[in-house]
Amino acid sequence: MSSTTCLHDSLANFTPTEFSPIRWRNRQLELLDQRQLPHQVEWLSYADANEVAQAITDMVVRGAPAIGITAAYGVVLSILKHQDALISGSTNNLKSDIQALAQSRPTAINLHWALDRMSALIDTTEPQQLASRLAEEAIAIHQQDIDFCHQIGQHGASLISEGSQVYTHCNAGALATGGHGTALGVIRTAFGQNKISQVYAGETRPWFQGARLTSWELLEEGIPTFLVTEGAAGHTLKQNKVDWVIVGSDRIAADGSVANKIGTYNLAILARHHGCKVMVAAPSSTFDLSIQNGNDIPIEQRPTDEVTHYKQSAISADGVKAINPSFDVTPPELVDVIVTERGIIHNPSTETIKAHFA
Ligand code: MRU
Repeated sequence: MSSTTCLHDSLANFTPTEFSPIRWRNRQLELLDQRQLPHQVEWLSYADANEVAQAITDMVVRGAPAIGITAAYGVVLSILKHQDALISGSTNNLKSDIQALAQSRPTAINLHWALDRMSALIDTTEPQQLASRLAEEAIAIHQQDIDFCHQIGQHGASLISEGSQVYTHCNAGALATGGHGTALGVIRTAFGQNKISQVYAGETRPWFQGARLTSWELLEEGIPTFLVTEGAAGHTLKQNKVDWVIVGSDRIAADGSVANKIGTYNLAILARHHGCKVMVAAPSSTFDLSIQNGNDIPIEQRPTDEVTHYKQSAISADGVKAINPSFDVTPPELVDVIVTERGIIHNPSTETIKAHFA
């Protein structure tokens, strides 16, 4: 394991050796408050699973893999809090905490994937061993996500030619994962191989993940980045030879339909029109093979004041009604490749995805 882990006392600490928005320290979960970035770097500590669920809803932590890892640590906090009741056979508090975590955001399947993995262990572990065994599991989920991001980065970068310009949307970087990132993992790895000449980062209304988070991550590493307003995407793809649109995902259906941050669908249509390829970078925990196509992916509707206001200040006419879908679904025919830790799925479809996971 390439990180600061004490497996003999996994309840104590896990701080990955590379940048991660999540830390496990002294039996508490620490989250980098992404609402304050890039101007303030503040870590918040959690000892209660319900507060962790609220932190996920409130976007303290966001990005599908990061949400899953956070929920896994949330289960450990619940066990630590209710250990005595668990030893005497009562699982009610634990179950209600897991339910609160499961309901914290609806689209990212990684959340349920992580909770299922934790729940399977709960069912097979002696109550006395639960806390340390589950802490080990949460740490394993965290470390595995970092490792998978590096593998995704290598596979994705293998498709990119020298001198390429790429466009990304939202933030699918270290901040959205255990570390390194999915879409930004590909960009980081390809940049390290001298293949990227320019990144365009879409600003991503209404939370500005592109403006606040992606541009911060890329500039920290000296990767040439232009921030682009949402409405400038078409013009940018038309005026510049952008080779790849590279994005992450919150959930991928069995047919290759990709749910990702609202605006991804627009970009994919623009990309097809302008002869630019679309790469979706995601770990296998983002696949929901129980869902046959994109119509069944639940789309989170967030509060409309996120659209009408910015940081509590109104930016629209008083009383205007808004809609705020947080994700959209891009059909597989608009996606050229999906890259996972296992390799590359060309022309995603029910058949190619089935073969990938066979
Ligand atoms: O609302 P967010 O910020 O959680 O949305 C995040 C995204 O849409 C990411 O692209 C996706 O979760 C993939 S993160 C590796």
